Amino acid sequence: MTNILIVGTGALGTLFAARLSAAGNNVTLLGTWPEALTALNQHGARLILAEGSELRAPVQATDTPANCSQVDLALVLVKAWQTKRAAQQLAACLPATSVAVTLQNGLGNREILIEALGQTRVILGVCTYGATLLAPGVAQLGGEGLLALEDTPRSREIQTLLQRAGFQVNLVADAEALAWGKVIINAAINPLTALLRVPNGELLQRPAARALMQALAEETAAIAQAHGIQLPFKDPLAAVENVAQRTASNRSSMLQDIQRGAPTEIEAICGAVTRIAQTHGISAPLNWAMWRLIDALRGA
Ligand code: PAF
Repeated sequence: MTNILIVGTGALGTLFAARLSAAGNNVTLLGTWPEALTALNQHGARLILAEGSELRAPVQATDTPANCSQVDLALVLVKAWQTKRAAQQLAACLPATSVAVTLQNGLGNREILIEALGQTRVILGVCTYGATLLAPGVAQLGGEGLLALEDTPRSREIQTLLQRAGFQVNLVADAEALAWGKVIINAAINPLTALLRVPNGELLQRPAARALMQALAEETAAIAQAHGIQLPFKDPLAAVENVAQRTASNRSSMLQDIQRGAPTEIEAICGAVTRIAQTHGISAPLNWAMWRLIDALRGA
């Protein structure tokens, strides 16, 4: 049995907790949301599946890093703006032989974790699964996505563990390419769904929204190229549309953040892309506009 720590009690944290515990692992969640900690300890992690059935599996949940020292593997699933705190918590509790995998949205999470834990203890991953938090400790699966992990000496055993829990997992040699591949998807889908208040699949149905999604994918891919990134796919638009299709009924994480009045990850997605474009002397007008619009939506 593997002892797994999930940092974060949101939709994806709950999804991973339910599946990994149901696959026979010992799962602990570390978070700050009291209602979620209570619900998870009392009722387990609950995942509502597409056909309406429920997967429920026992977990422990705590707000105290000191309770998390018996851990073989940590999955970081907090919002990008919470990564610094997660990194400090992991530095305090993660055993020296254990690694942390970041499956978060946005650029810069891996670097923050490396600063706290060291290069060899951090693995970059990307996740295109969609999930919606229905209530504390209860997530709804919003579409089967894919996981990809940076290929490191520890990645194969983590791939096997995740596959046994029902995830599709690939290993990818180039971590930077992996991060940029995901940021293209998030830059093209998340702000548009949050501004239009629609599930991901609706972006494919509305011609004007689809054109904007296409233009965002192309702009972000061009900036990746200027930054020297060899993207993990040939056609950025096809990659974005494929994720929107697979997660058609899902409300993106940014739409969920806006709807519950919470901070968004726009800074680590379109904000980071805009800043990197500037370092190459190019502009990123669409990423900039999405960044400003989402901040304006939150009253900034
Ligand atoms: O942030 C999200 O919501 C997810 O990364 C994704 C893959 C776009 C699915 O909604």
